[in-house]
Amino acid sequence: MIITIDGPAGVGKGTIAKIVSKTFGFKYLDSGAMYRALALFADLNGVSEKDSSKLKKILIDLHIRFVDHEEGERVLINTDDVTEDIRTNEISTLASKFAANDFVRTILREMQRRIVKNKDYIAEGRDMGTYVFPDAKYKFYLDADLEIRAKRRSLQLKEILGININEDKVSREIDERDKLDMTRKSCPLHPAEDAIIIDTTSMSINEVASKIESMVKNA
Ligand code: DC
Repeated sequence: MIITIDGPAGVGKGTIAKIVSKTFGFKYLDSGAMYRALALFADLNGVSEKDSSKLKKILIDLHIRFVDHEEGERVLINTDDVTEDIRTNEISTLASKFAANDFVRTILREMQRRIVKNKDYIAEGRDMGTYVFPDAKYKFYLDADLEIRAKRRSLQLKEILGININEDKVSREIDERDKLDMTRKSCPLHPAEDAIIIDTTSMSINEVASKIESMVKNA
C-alpha cells in the first residue's frame, strides 16, 4: 500500500512522513533527497540543469541509495555519504532547478517506482500523488502559511546542520522555490484531485501526524 504526502517547502512533510511510517510499519521514501542528491552529483561534475545531453551521460553513473542507520536514514551517492551535504540552502535551490528538467524527472520517477514496488511505503515530495503514484490508496497534501514554513525550515537547518539562518532569508528562499516548483512545465506541484488537503498552519507536527493516521485507520 502507498500513502503519498505532498506539499510545498518547509511544511514538515518529511518529519510527519517519518512519524506516520513508524506508526504503520511502512517504509519511507524521501523523494526530495533524490532530487537533492542528483543536483549535488551534477554540480560536482560541472553539469548544469540546462544541459540535458551531458546530464544523460553522467546520470548513468549515479546510484542513489538510502541506508538504514540507528540514528536515522543515510543518503548515499554511489559509496559517498551525502546526508548532510544535500541539506544546504544552495542545494535546495539547485535541486529545484534540476527538478524542472523533464529528463531528470523521468529518471527519478522510474527509480522511485522501482524502490517502492510491491512494498508498503509513505512517499513524500511534490508529485507523489499526482504523477508518480497516481493510484496511491491515500493521498495527503499539506500546506501552511509562508511565515510558519520559514520558521519550521529554519529550525530544521539548525537541527541538521547546526547553522542559524535569518528567517527572512529562508522565507525568500522557500517562496522562490515554491514558485519554481509550482509553475514548471514538467509535473508541477499541485494537490491531486483526490488528495485530502490539510492546512497545518496552526497545528503541531504530532497533531498533523495523528490526523493522517486516524484518517487512514478510519477510512
Ligand atoms: O522536499 P525537498 O525540499 O527536499 O525538495 C527539494 C526540491 O526537489 C524541491 O524544491 C523540488 C524538488 N522535488 C520535486 O520536484 N519533486 C519531488 N517529488 C520532490 C522534490
